[in-house]
Amino acid sequence: MLLENMAYTEVETYLNEKDIILVPVGSVEQHSPYGLIGTDFIVAEAIARTVGDNMNLMVAPTVCYGVSPHHMAFKGTVALSPSTLIIVAEDIVRSLVAHGFRRILFINGHGGNIVPLETAFRQLKDEGLSGYFDVLSWYTEAGVKQTCREAFGDNEGHHATPSEVSITKLLRPSAFSGKAISEQKVEKPKYYWPLTAAEMRTFFPDGRMESAPWLATAELGKQIVAKAAEDLEQKIKDILTLNVL
Ligand code: NI
Repeated sequence: MLLENMAYTEVETYLNEKDIILVPVGSVEQHSPYGLIGTDFIVAEAIARTVGDNMNLMVAPTVCYGVSPHHMAFKGTVALSPSTLIIVAEDIVRSLVAHGFRRILFINGHGGNIVPLETAFRQLKDEGLSGYFDVLSWYTEAGVKQTCREAFGDNEGHHATPSEVSITKLLRPSAFSGKAISEQKVEKPKYYWPLTAAEMRTFFPDGRMESAPWLATAELGKQIVAKAAEDLEQKIKDILTLNVL
């Protein structure tokens, strides 16, 4: 059930029964020579829509851009600053609350978005806004972590992971013609965080972080989407039992 495809009258009908909405959020950032710049939002959107279909929940349009300034030394990255995402998230939540939504869950595909989103929710609560606001990252629950670990072991890494690249291979197979395919060394440098864009490129010259994205396959992508959705559905079932004031 996609908000973008509904008439306002259908939103009214939905709100008579439910007060929950999923908001996919990702990033527009380099994912090495092996992966798509849109990876994070493509994956978050697909998983949010799978959960929405399985649970009959409304899914809002995707927030494609995210907080990626540390990827700016790679061409094509388009980064929001943390303060911008805070403002965007606050306006989205305020709008949805104004219509009667009370459980607003950002389904996230990019680590850099988490702190700004949590800051936005904190600020909204401090203003006195009613509701339950949360960010659920598709890759952090125990079940999907185990699936990714079983598939890729130590080659999963932290950025341009074979897991996220597998999901995009499933969803956008034609986008992979022309992408790198050769195996490289998986380096594990000792580094600190956060990094500037220049530091990021020095530690991780081709944009991968400790990952082997050439191992990605669409078949594994299918399994990972299913597991991530299952994990999130469990979590959302709990959230639906909360007495949200
Ligand atoms: Ni990513």
